[in-house]
Amino acid sequence: MSVRHFLTLLDLSADELSYLIQRGITIKNRLKTQGPTYTPFSNRTLAMIFEKSSTRTRVSFETAMAQFGGHALFLSSRDTQLGRGEPIGDTARVLSEMVDAVMIRTFSHAGLEEFAAASSVPVINALTDDYHPCQLLADVMTWTECRGPVQGKTAVWIGDGNNMCHSWINAARQFDFQLRICCPEGYDPRQDIVEAAGDRVTLLRDPAEAVSGADLVTTDVWASMGQEEEQAKRERDFAGFQVTEALLDRAAEDVVFLHCLPAHRGEEISTTLLDDPRAVVWQEAGNRLHAQKALIEFLLLGQVA
Ligand code: CP
Ligand code: NVA
Repeated sequence: MSVRHFLTLLDLSADELSYLIQRGITIKNRLKTQGPTYTPFSNRTLAMIFEKSSTRTRVSFETAMAQFGGHALFLSSRDTQLGRGEPIGDTARVLSEMVDAVMIRTFSHAGLEEFAAASSVPVINALTDDYHPCQLLADVMTWTECRGPVQGKTAVWIGDGNNMCHSWINAARQFDFQLRICCPEGYDPRQDIVEAAGDRVTLLRDPAEAVSGADLVTTDVWASMGQEEEQAKRERDFAGFQVTEALLDRAAEDVVFLHCLPAHRGEEISTTLLDDPRAVVWQEAGNRLHAQKALIEFLLLGQVA
């Protein structure tokens, strides 16, 4: 079998993604009832390359490998030869000789693709400037746990048309739900990604209209990693796009609110929104662990159930 990578949600079929969601739920329930007794990765190693900061992604991948009986290596680009100009392809070939899979958080999605093209072990996108597919596995898993099958439902993205927004668009395609996207002018998601999603995606400008009757509302920071110098301008441009309890009141009565975190209270969300029972962000963060276990297991062992 040729090596499988997970650079975007489009690298897996819709059936494979649905399998991963159910498998993540199974793995989570098993951990809760039996403890970390399932150890399919004895002596296996995941290399984790970080060129950007992380809390959830690092901890979830590292814990996933430990609980599965394997090992994770944290590689900061500052401390490796990658940070001193060793070519991406050379690094990929070297790591392929030693580890079983590689996880990368970086800036350039093209750089990630270059790495994957030279790698003979699975490569996982742990966030680029363009996509964050691992987060969507946890998000769809959380939505499914809370409200059942997501097919045909309506999610709303409020805020920046960023890497998370792009992955929500791919999720709408793959999991077959409707996605309304509401960004200020000048901050729309990439047109090619929107167009590829066809009638599953609608662009709107008014947050109140966008959330009307919606099953799920989600947002993200206004300035992503690498955009820190734009913070002040973005705070001005995104005024009126804050998600508040009052905005959620316009959605469906059983709406759930997700945020990939870290959150900036008082900016993209009201200061108290994460305390609202409609917000399930801690469950969502925890599901990174279970969904990524399902992903690593799938990439290394194929479907096991
Ligand atoms: N949501 C997410 O990816 O969080 P970290 O940046 O902390 O990994
Ligand atoms: N859009 C954010 C997501 C962080 C998990 C960023 O790229 O910084």
